[in-house]
Amino acid sequence: MIFALETSCDETAAALVTHDGEIRANVVASQADLHAQFGGVVPEIASRRHLELVLPVVRQALSDAGATLDDVDLVAVTRGPGLIGALLVGVSAAKALAWTRRLPLAPVDHLDGHVASLYLEPDSLEPPFLCLLASGGHTMLLDVRARGSFGVAGRTVDDAVGEAFDKGARLLGLGYPGGAELDRLARDGDPEAFSFPVAKLPGLDFSFSGVKTSLLYAVKKLQPGELERRRADLAASYQRALVRALVERTDAAAQLLGVERVGVVGGVAANSELRASLPWARAAPLSLCTDNAAMIASAARYVEPLPYPRYLGLDAYASAA
Ligand SMILES: Nc1ncnc2c1ncn2[C@@H]1O[C@H](COP(=O)(O)OP(=O)(O)OP(=O)(O)O)[C@@H](O)[C@H]1O
Ligand SMILES: [Mg+2]
Repeated sequence: MIFALETSCDETAAALVTHDGEIRANVVASQADLHAQFGGVVPEIASRRHLELVLPVVRQALSDAGATLDDVDLVAVTRGPGLIGALLVGVSAAKALAWTRRLPLAPVDHLDGHVASLYLEPDSLEPPFLCLLASGGHTMLLDVRARGSFGVAGRTVDDAVGEAFDKGARLLGLGYPGGAELDRLARDGDPEAFSFPVAKLPGLDFSFSGVKTSLLYAVKKLQPGELERRRADLAASYQRALVRALVERTDAAAQLLGVERVGVVGGVAANSELRASLPWARAAPLSLCTDNAAMIASAARYVEPLPYPRYLGLDAYASAA
């Protein structure tokens, strides 16, 4: 089995996955509550919490799988992109685990991990396909021709769509991270009540920085009582605008690249309206949309592992090269 660790942001996660892509354990300890009071992830607090959580999460994963380290033949870890201090906790723990057993170690890119959430059983997807990666830090259209690699067909030039969800949620007085809460509030609202135009760039790129400003102006225009009454309408209309932008670009990219299959991954892939708006697409299972280590183990199958002891000098990276 592959033992994987993921600590790139504010989830401390460990998983055991077979080489055939069967999940035996998938433990995610979220720190969201810890960061909620600050309205966003505080990097130093995240690193310290990862340190406290990493060994309990490792033990929990082994116990859930009914396994010991004797059952593991490969250790995998997220190397980047993400918060550097947070990543270093996972990388150091993974090195130590691999070193004690003289096991090889596979360094995994977090974005490859999100794509590889589509390669897990019982419902794995075969390339070629177009992949919409919509998360807290990224919004990309990926041309996936083989497992383990992709070309970038489009990307956001400013904010990620997850960030737009979180900022919108904050303007509407919802907690952090607000994407899922905004999704819930939107169900009680009218998506046509307000018009929030999303910038349309030439080609297949996205821009989400303007739309949150239009939400800000709409919120400012309303009296407090009125705002309270229209909150669900605002959420529904804002979500409709974000989802429309994603769906239009995804359709255009699929046509341009001539691919029949579309995958959707990343935290925003959990959004109910996005999933309903792309019924022909394969969205990652809900439990694998936001950060987890099962997707990292999955991606590790398509990475050249570093033999013992070469990985002892391995470093993390905060942003893609
Ligand atoms: N139901 C939902 N609707 C919309 N957004 C959602 C939903 N559930 C989660 N999200 C958003 O998903 C994002 C988190 O996703 P994920 O964990 O993949 O991102 P990340 O790891 O922080 O960023 P990246 O993967 O780009 O480094 C947050 O912005 C969150 O608000
Ligand atoms: Mg992520």
